[in-house]
Amino acid sequence: MKNVILTGFMATGKSAVGRVLAQRLGYKFIDTDNLIAEQAKKSIAQIFQDEGEAHFRCLETELLRQLENAQGLVIATGGGMILPEENFRRLKKLGPVICLTASPEVILARAKRGQTKRPLLNTPDPLEKITQLLEKRKPFYRLADFTVDTSGNNPAEAADSIFTYLKGA
Ligand code: S3P
Repeated sequence: MKNVILTGFMATGKSAVGRVLAQRLGYKFIDTDNLIAEQAKKSIAQIFQDEGEAHFRCLETELLRQLENAQGLVIATGGGMILPEENFRRLKKLGPVICLTASPEVILARAKRGQTKRPLLNTPDPLEKITQLLEKRKPFYRLADFTVDTSGNNPAEAADSIFTYLKGA
C-alpha cells in the first residue's frame, strides 16, 4: 500500500483522523489544502476570494499531478477534490480511498467550532448548503473503497476502524 487517501465532506474529521492513522501506520501525514495554501502563499479562503473556486479546483488537480510518485503518505484531501474524474483516477492510483462522513448537523457544528474558514459555507443558511452539497456529492463519495461515519466517533476510533479495514484489504 503506497499511500492512504482520506476524502469526504468538509469537517468530517479528515485531518484529525489522518494524523492518528499516519502515526499508527508509520506514514507521514499531509493535507492538500495546506499544501495548496503554502504554494499559493495565501489561505484557501483568500484563493477563493481573489481567483474564484474554478482556479482553486485547477490548483487541486495540479497538486495531484505533483503527488504522482508519492509514497508512505496519509493524504487528507479537500472535500471537493474527488469530484473531477481525473482527480478520482489519480487518487485511486495513489492508494485506497477512504471516505469520512458525518450528519449535516455534526458537520455544521464542527465547521463553526473549527479555525478553518470554509468559503462554501459562508452563506445565510449553511445547513441548507451542506445538505444540498452532500446530496450532489453522494455519488462521488460512494466511489470510495471504505466509508466511516465519524458523527459519533472520536478520531482515534475512526482511525482504528480504517486501520482494521486496511489490514484486511
Ligand atoms: C472544499 C473543502 C475544503 C477546501 C475548500 C473547498 C469543498 O476542505 O478544500 O474550502 O469543496 O468541499 P475541507 O474538506 O478540508 O474543509
